[in-house]
Amino acid sequence: MTNWKKVLVIAAMAMMVFSVAAFAAPKVWTVGFSQIGSESEWRTADTISVQNAFLEDPSFNLIYSDAQQKQENQIKAIRSFIARKVDAILFTALVETGYGPVLQEAKKAKIPVIMIDRDVAKEDQGLRLTIMGSDFIKEGEKAGTWLASYLKAKGMDDGTTPIDIAELQGTTGSAPAVERAQGFRNIAKDHANWNIAHSQDGDFTSSQGKQVMEAFLKADPKIQVLFAHNDQMALGAIQAIKEAGLQPGKDITIIGMDAVKGMFQAIVNGEANATIECNPLLGPQAVQAIHDLRAGHKLPARIWTIESQFDATNAAAALPTRQY
Ligand code: AHR
Repeated sequence: MTNWKKVLVIAAMAMMVFSVAAFAAPKVWTVGFSQIGSESEWRTADTISVQNAFLEDPSFNLIYSDAQQKQENQIKAIRSFIARKVDAILFTALVETGYGPVLQEAKKAKIPVIMIDRDVAKEDQGLRLTIMGSDFIKEGEKAGTWLASYLKAKGMDDGTTPIDIAELQGTTGSAPAVERAQGFRNIAKDHANWNIAHSQDGDFTSSQGKQVMEAFLKADPKIQVLFAHNDQMALGAIQAIKEAGLQPGKDITIIGMDAVKGMFQAIVNGEANATIECNPLLGPQAVQAIHDLRAGHKLPARIWTIESQFDATNAAAALPTRQY
């Protein structure tokens, strides 16, 4: 074979190898993730879980955006993901409403949007592909059911004497605040003597939980139960209860949500009574969903996380292995 023929054969073979390789390796997908901020230990665990899961998978390139608890920052971030022509968007909605127009823009650009943790309101749910995360209504119901059996077991509820309950709500208009409140009331309505005497937004933060609890206690020293929409606010409230000269976990029964380490410790110390788990470790599920999407599979309309609940009967045993 002449030299120039040899060159042609080598070039053809190289092209074949290149095209087989290109065919075998699907393109790296760019995924934009609009997170709401870092208001709680739970949120930090959630962010780290998602970032690590994508970092460990060479099929993806994750663009992370922290909205610092501002809806307008989320809208800007999603618009920038659309402009960058990302392959998919992961989105945790700070509050349920107000995202319709930007989700329409993503739909128009044919970019699938997957909700993670917090959903948008019903009227906008047709604009996203699926939602993965917790059943917040069920979490609120679990809190109410736990409270009913605890009060009964301790002889603290005769079914007629009024029980004053204070509620620390999460960010007004957010899915977990709306749905946990609803779930708790689904159970409370069957207890005519339960009186949700105080209910206020503590924005899911420890500092606001403390501040709002101080105000509750000034207005009503007879509060017997605190239902907090997350552990972070419960932990802040515990400080306020102590500073008011009361014993958290004894004078006031305390139920939180999330099952973060700090709350486990408070239960073990007898300063809180229960926490309903809300699993923030959503990264692996998110990666799996986007793999499925890329492979052309239809995603289920709802991807649930598996969760438990903890009190003095099981918190100490679970504490050493808690990841968040
Ligand atoms: O959306 C989940 C909630 O948001 C968690 O319960 C809370 O801790 C977080 O801030």
